[in-house]
Amino acid sequence: MDYSVSQDDKAWLEETYGKLSVKLSAECARIGSMIPYIPIDGHYHDVDTLEGLYWWTNGFWAGILWQMYHAAGDEAYRKAASGVEDRLDQALIGYEGLHHDVGFMWLHSAVANYRLTGNKDSRRRGLHAANLLAGRFNPAGKFIRAWNGDRTGWMIVDCMMNIPILYWASKETGDRRFSFIAQEHADTCRRIIVRDDGSCNHIAALNPDTGECLEYPGGQGFASGSSWSRGQAWGLYGFALSYRHTQKKEYLDTAKSIAHYVIANFALNDWLPLVDFRSPLKPLKYDSTAAMIASCGLLEIAAHVGEYEKPLYLNAALKILRACEKAFCNWNPEEDAVMGHGTGAYHSTGKDADVPIIYGDYFFVEAVLRLLGKDFLIW
Ligand code: GLY
Repeated sequence: MDYSVSQDDKAWLEETYGKLSVKLSAECARIGSMIPYIPIDGHYHDVDTLEGLYWWTNGFWAGILWQMYHAAGDEAYRKAASGVEDRLDQALIGYEGLHHDVGFMWLHSAVANYRLTGNKDSRRRGLHAANLLAGRFNPAGKFIRAWNGDRTGWMIVDCMMNIPILYWASKETGDRRFSFIAQEHADTCRRIIVRDDGSCNHIAALNPDTGECLEYPGGQGFASGSSWSRGQAWGLYGFALSYRHTQKKEYLDTAKSIAHYVIANFALNDWLPLVDFRSPLKPLKYDSTAAMIASCGLLEIAAHVGEYEKPLYLNAALKILRACEKAFCNWNPEEDAVMGHGTGAYHSTGKDADVPIIYGDYFFVEAVLRLLGKDFLIW
């Protein structure tokens, strides 16, 4: 995909890619196959328990490494990424702590490896994860259930970004069951989670026996009825990807509708990302991860629309990326993590409030590489 950016944007992208290469190469040499999440005092720490291995973000470092391996061809990235994938086997075997986020965990590790190297063990891991996700489908309500425990009727907008592993498994095996489940979930999400104005709920609690929507718990945003920015970004990018994999126009229309709402909100805030678009402005809370995910989603939409429609999505993505790079990035190669000011949830006060978070870096890398034509599709 040629995004045809301006000379000025191109220069910024080349410079940013150069800085990413220096920083990520230093990180790779320092942490190798560690599984990082949030740095403390500038340094990542490894996962050291089985419980820790189940955490949903554990594939993103491998995703960064595979993207950089694809772009730069450096073997050190490939070795480190393969090591992360091997370590995640303990989570596949352990099983009990896994939930809907198996897509994130194995798309970025095993499936990425298989796509780039054809490794058969990686393919097996990816299909195993896809089967686990498909097994979470509730046929009465036509949704993939979120998390574990007794909330059997909960579905969440985030899962739109896990279902690409089902599209991949369908294509890989020729068995369309996986894609049917993904589309059923996407259809229910369009109907129940996306609102008419293009904003999204985070969670919908359904009656698991009938699929009737009972309520909208507040989730990671400010409150029920608010507009958690990362949730909007998951929906935006997730529906655009469902369009890529199915060519169903309603998915692209939904992605655009969320995008228009998201762009309007970013434009009101100097292209910087509030944690929730419907929350008090004081204290001002940012979540750079929402901005990076939304940027990738906008670029995905730009890849599927005509020449006169494309600038809206492309230029909005560039404005967000450039504003966040200027305001939030740490380019010191001796410290881990690039993109600062990530926030796990609106009410977070602990270690995931206003800090660099690994998936913020993943989506930043993906967006920059995409715009330079150096990425590969992980989704
Ligand atoms: N998918 C979990 C989150 O966005 O925090």
